[in-house]
Amino acid sequence: MSLSSSLPRVSLCDHLPTSLQEAPRLSKTLGIKLFVKREDLTGLATGGNKIRNLEFIFGEVLERGCDAIITTAGVHSNMCRATAATAARLGMKCMLLLRGSKGDPEEGNLLLDRLLGADVRFIPTKDPYDERVPGWLEEASRELEATGHRPYVLHLTGGTSTLATCAYVDGAEELAAQFAKIGTIPDSLYVTVGSGITMAGLVLGFKHLERPTRVVGVSANSEAGFLADRIVDYANSAASRLRLDTRIVAGDFEVLDDYVGPGYGVPTLEAIEAIRLTAREEGLLLDPVYTGKCMAALQDRARNGHLGQDETVVFLHSGGIPNLFAQAGTLKTRTPLTQQPR
Ligand SMILES: Cc1ncc(COP(=O)(O)O)c(C=O)c1O
Repeated sequence: MSLSSSLPRVSLCDHLPTSLQEAPRLSKTLGIKLFVKREDLTGLATGGNKIRNLEFIFGEVLERGCDAIITTAGVHSNMCRATAATAARLGMKCMLLLRGSKGDPEEGNLLLDRLLGADVRFIPTKDPYDERVPGWLEEASRELEATGHRPYVLHLTGGTSTLATCAYVDGAEELAAQFAKIGTIPDSLYVTVGSGITMAGLVLGFKHLERPTRVVGVSANSEAGFLADRIVDYANSAASRLRLDTRIVAGDFEVLDDYVGPGYGVPTLEAIEAIRLTAREEGLLLDPVYTGKCMAALQDRARNGHLGQDETVVFLHSGGIPNLFAQAGTLKTRTPLTQQPR
C-alpha cells in the first residue's frame, strides 16, 4: 500500500512509473553522476509534473460529483493546459481565467488550451496573488452554475494544494523504489520551484521514507525565504492529510533564488546555454521558464565545484515543453554562439 492510497485518485498519467534515466554524456561533461527523472513523460497532452498533481485533484473533483472545472494562472501556464487536457479526457467542461490579454500570441500552452476545447477568458492582472482573483473565480462559477453545471474551482490554495502535494509524496515513493533498483541513494535531487508544491511532496516523502537525498529547489520566480515557508506549510498539511507523523522544517531542504534572472518566464543566458547543452548531449528537451533555469543551476554548481566528482544527482524534469516553442524567437536571438553546430 502506498502512502497516498487512502486518497481518491483518477488515472491520468499514461506512463507510471516515469523512468529514471542515466545521463552519461552530461555526467561526463559536468563531472558528476547524473540521472534524470522523466516527469515530462507522464503523458496526456505533453505531460509534466502537473498531470501527477491532477490525478489527486480530480479524484476529489469526481468524488464531489462535479462536471466542470475552472482554474486560473498565467497565459502560458502548464497547469491550465494540463487541466484542459484532463477535462477533455474526462468529458468535462473547462474554463480558464488566464492572466493575459486577447493580444497574446496563440502559441505554446495557449494554443493547446484552445485545441483542447477550454473556454478561455482573460483577467486583467499579472499578479498571481491579486486579491480580485477569488472574486473572478466565484463569478465564473456562478456563470457555469446558471447553465446547469456543477463546477469545481481549482485554485491552488488550501485543500487543493494539499492534494497536489500528496501527489509528489507518491512521486517520492516511486523514486525511492527506483533508487533501490539502481542500488544508489543519490546525494541530491534538483527540482524547479514555482509554487513549491512538487518540492514539498518530495521533501516530505524522502524524509518519511528515511531517504537522505537532499532536495534542492531552484526558483523560477519568487524569493527563497518566501518559498521555504510555503514548502514547509504544504508539506506539513500533506503530512496531516496522509496521517503521517513526519514533519518538515526549513533545514530539511534548500531553495536557490539566484537563477531567476530578470524575472519569471524571462529566459536567462545561462538557461539557454543549459537547454542547448542538455539537448545536444542527451537529446533531452528542457523549457526556458522552469526546467532550463533548474538545469542552469545544477550545471553552474557542478562547474563551480559545489557538486563533487563522486556525487550522484537527480534532475527532476517537470515538463513544460510547450513554452520552448512559445519562446522560439527569444531562444534564437539571445543564444550566444558558444557552440557551433556539429
Ligand atoms: C514545467 C513546470 N515545472 C515546474 C513547475 C513548478 O511546480 P510547483 O508549482 O509544484 O513548484 C511548474 C509549475 O507551474 C511547471 O509548469
